[in-house]
Amino acid sequence: MSCDVISVTRYHHDLGCPQWWVELIRLHGRTSTRNLVKPANPEETGRFKYSDFQPVVSRKKRKNKPQLERPSLLTLVQRAREELSQDAWNSRCQQILQDHLTAHSLSPSKILCLGLGSPSSSSNSRAQLGFLLEICKSTGIEHSNVSIYDPVFSQEDDVLFKQLGLCKLSENKANHSLEATTILWMPHCDLDLYESVLAANWSREQLPYVLLISNRLEDYVDSIPRQKLETRASCLLQLASSENIFECCPLPVCSVRTTAFNTIAIQSLNSKATIPDSWFPQTLHSIQAVSPTSTSEHRIQDKT
Ligand SMILES: C[S@@+](CC[C@H](N)C(=O)[O-])C[C@H]1O[C@@H](n2cnc3c(N)ncnc32)[C@H](O)[C@@H]1O
Repeated sequence: MSCDVISVTRYHHDLGCPQWWVELIRLHGRTSTRNLVKPANPEETGRFKYSDFQPVVSRKKRKNKPQLERPSLLTLVQRAREELSQDAWNSRCQQILQDHLTAHSLSPSKILCLGLGSPSSSSNSRAQLGFLLEICKSTGIEHSNVSIYDPVFSQEDDVLFKQLGLCKLSENKANHSLEATTILWMPHCDLDLYESVLAANWSREQLPYVLLISNRLEDYVDSIPRQKLETRASCLLQLASSENIFECCPLPVCSVRTTAFNTIAIQSLNSKATIPDSWFPQTLHSIQAVSPTSTSEHRIQDKT
């Protein structure tokens, strides 16, 4: 067959053919392959005869390609966890967490995980779940004391959580009220979800229970107009703009999973700081009703 070849590129990898059997040609802008008849003398490439053109079939569309079975979701999560546990980043983060707990005399007994996304459809969610399991290991918190919720969870995710012994909440709510010091693992959640959780615990008694491992609240203050924050996220604004009251320990960059853990920090009230009564107007009124001589500032104490 004669053809008007515009350019020829010898192609020899991944087709399972020796180099001189297949060439890629560009013919009037269209890429095709042509099979070479094995020459008596391979050096004489100019005298090859070519069989008919074969359009290049994309790898994705190739038929008869053996389909590899996807490992189970549990296996994928275990792999993601293993990848993290073997990385120095994880041990560094667990150490930062331990140091933070010691420095502020915190002993969390529960974990509430919100906004994880769906592990069956997101590798970032699987990595974040792997990290949650590493937190359980380093803090000694039993899987049965981990509550988890995201409205996007699938049935496959539900089965996974059962296998892991985690407790999937049944209710889609944002205003979780805490009764003890709780790690809130909330990776990359929306402003409104953070605000709802903080508002639900906005009292002198409950705010010390909040131990966030989440995006740095300060980042929201830096990126969202103050006026908007004042109306939509006043608790978050109060915490993030308070000097020395809300302690923030940023986690280092995770080079194996950059996007899953970027701008994550451990945040809680600083046990050595004092919170002004003006933060809790309702509490202030009730204190004054009981004792008009009570002081206007109170030291934060961990209730656990
Ligand atoms: C920006 S995505 C983050 C997903 C994942 N963590 C990641 O980093 O890719 C925020 C997640 O919050 C979840 N979400 C929204 N409202 C929620 C609620 N009330 N409780 C728990 N999760 C919620 C959304 O479904 C979504 O999966």
